[in-house]
Amino acid sequence: MSKSIDWKNLSFSYTKTDYNIRCYYRDGKWGELEVSSSENIDLHIAATCLHYGQEAFEGLKAFKGKDGKIRIFRLDENAKRMVRSAEGIMMQPIPVEIFEAAVIKAVKMNLEWVPPYESGASLYIRPLLIGTGPKVGVAPADEYLLLVFVTPVGPYFKEGFRLTNVAVMHNFDRAAPNGTGHIKVGGNYAASLKAGAISKEKGYSTTLYLDSKEKKYIDECGPANFFGIKNGVYITPESKSILPSITNMSLIQLAQDLGIKAERRPIPIEELAELSEAGACGTAAVITPIGWVDDLDTGTSYQVTRGDVPGPITTNLYNTLRAIQYGDIEDKHGWIKFVE
Ligand code: PLP
Ligand code: COI
Repeated sequence: MSKSIDWKNLSFSYTKTDYNIRCYYRDGKWGELEVSSSENIDLHIAATCLHYGQEAFEGLKAFKGKDGKIRIFRLDENAKRMVRSAEGIMMQPIPVEIFEAAVIKAVKMNLEWVPPYESGASLYIRPLLIGTGPKVGVAPADEYLLLVFVTPVGPYFKEGFRLTNVAVMHNFDRAAPNGTGHIKVGGNYAASLKAGAISKEKGYSTTLYLDSKEKKYIDECGPANFFGIKNGVYITPESKSILPSITNMSLIQLAQDLGIKAERRPIPIEELAELSEAGACGTAAVITPIGWVDDLDTGTSYQVTRGDVPGPITTNLYNTLRAIQYGDIEDKHGWIKFVE
């Protein structure tokens, strides 16, 4: 049974569900998973997450198939990335098994909130790890909390699978070259809020960031990686300051499965002029096809998808990815974890 809500018109926003999962690290060890129906947590006023940004999060999705089964996409990869994020800002890493058990439990406890197959919506799973122990000097906490909540969602960008435009602004950086751009920590997102708001005010979906050092190469696209199609080849930026997207990694594999060559390499902004298709990809964004990239500082506009509908390779990749996620085609690579 699913709840009676308008699944087809869900946006990417918070809806209260029934339960969330918590697991505490205290006295040098992780405790048992706890189930809570409260939307609040009790925090020490000197917790390091509040003062010094000791916070990392993940985003993954569960999908209900035609067969009624619930599938979580690439749970193991999100678990591993959470470990890397924790290590990057000196938090106690959450063991992969505990992360996976907490995510599965969060879905199981909220089965009625998994959108039905026909809706095209999904259950977004948001695990977060925070430093809860008190410190006043700048130092890592001694205590941590893993929290997992779920919420049903529709498309991140309101256009869904339709062309959208993005803005380049040279005077904003999301992450420093040797900073924390490659891990999923809250501070990166705080750093992106202003550029994001300006982009939206000017009518764009999000900001396409250039590399912070030289302002020459494409980095990533708001809360998503960037890819383009050039002469039939899938190209995506190589950079130390972008988040290694699990969706992008999957699309590279799917492109290769479809006989499309894939390259990860630095992409100079001028090369946008040579693309026939482009998109932003991520768990929330899925694939959001990009029509135009406007460089607001140089005044140059690049049409990165030729025509006014998503390109054929982008569409093929999108359909293949979604078909795996909803169980419509075989999961050849073992990306799906069933919630039994
Ligand atoms: N880049 C950033 C900055 C993100 O926040 C996300 C979202 O997780 C992505 C890329 C896409 O990563 P993934 O495909 O693993 O969701
Ligand atoms: C995701 O795609 O899961 C993300 O984390 C993006 C998010 C910042 C909304």
